Amino acid sequence: MFERIDYYAGDPILGLMEKYSADNNPNKVNLGIGIYYDESGVLPVLDCVKTAEARIADPIAPRPYLPMAGLPGHRKGCQELLFGKGAQILQDGLVATIATIGGSGALKVGAEFIHEWFPQSKCYVSDPTWGNHIAIFEGSDVEVGKYPYYDKANSSIKFDEMIAFFETLNKHDVILLHPCCHNPTGMDLTQAQWDTVLNVIKAHELIPFMDIAYQGFGEDMDGDAYAIRKAVEMGLPLFVSNSFSKNLSLYGERVGGLSVVCPTADEAERVFGQLNAMVRRIYSSPPSHGGHVVDIVMNDDALHEQWVGEVYAMRDRIKAMRLKLKSVLEAKIPNRNFDYITRQNGMFSFTGLTPEQVERLQSKYGIYMVSNSRMCVAGLNTSNIDYVANAMADVLKD
Ligand code: LMR
Repeated sequence: MFERIDYYAGDPILGLMEKYSADNNPNKVNLGIGIYYDESGVLPVLDCVKTAEARIADPIAPRPYLPMAGLPGHRKGCQELLFGKGAQILQDGLVATIATIGGSGALKVGAEFIHEWFPQSKCYVSDPTWGNHIAIFEGSDVEVGKYPYYDKANSSIKFDEMIAFFETLNKHDVILLHPCCHNPTGMDLTQAQWDTVLNVIKAHELIPFMDIAYQGFGEDMDGDAYAIRKAVEMGLPLFVSNSFSKNLSLYGERVGGLSVVCPTADEAERVFGQLNAMVRRIYSSPPSHGGHVVDIVMNDDALHEQWVGEVYAMRDRIKAMRLKLKSVLEAKIPNRNFDYITRQNGMFSFTGLTPEQVERLQSKYGIYMVSNSRMCVAGLNTSNIDYVANAMADVLKD
């Protein structure tokens, strides 16, 4: 009966994590999945989260179903983080926000919404992008295309090509954008480039869908939301999926949000209703624990301030690792340019290693990165960085 079912080849990122866990090499280093490890190589529990957890645990409260859209405080937290506290569009009720099962859940509900209400729309993703973007939209029967983004040869963005491509798209086609810390390249647009992109989107009546999974890891909380807030200022309709996996270090709690910015409050109410309906038929309502953590940290001024500081500490440690890696590699291979390492933002560096070089790093040194050459810089620390740099220098010299 099930013989005709295809085997699943596994996920290129999550599968790598399993392979890493099974590796007996005592020197192994995990630079695959986008997870922040601290200076001791440990996945941190943020202090603000510990405080929130203590409040949740005392007294231990009953666990009713949450509303389909999740906790109001979770939704408010998403909105204020993305659009700014007191933003006019929030006061005017123009944003429909639901709490979601991580950023992936937000993308899934958004993709289903687009499939149902904009059936003619295609979705265009950057070349390259996070693999799950394609899988999620195609899985919702939305046709996916790619727009030019990363220039491997020059470690830069194919900006003019990208803009020319956007100009060929049809009204209401969806463009999936990374407002900060592009995954997998780490290469972001400047604010002036965002302005140009958004002007083209406006002129051609395209739909921007911004997926922000690393807010706070690039410039800062507000700077990383530049594209989102600029789109709002320009009066564009807008989808935003956001994730708290990385910036609250709450990976397994699966907490995120989906926000849709609408031209009128009436439209926002309709959209909110349909998002609820979509949630009901996919998973009914989100889980409560992570939602409570988000609610507490985002809505308590002192905890929020502490949280921002903790995110910036993670950001700064990653930046320090970039500088160190660059300087060690430059010393070892002086004829090669490693400037790209410090021009990229967030957790990832697109190293330009060939799949064979990535494979050698894994088999010879137990160093894991994604086969497209993406390295999670947040897996580096002062104890393993020389080992990694030496190994990279070794495979690059061949
Ligand atoms: C990543 O890109 O490594 C993360 O977003 C984790 C994932 O689910 O792929």
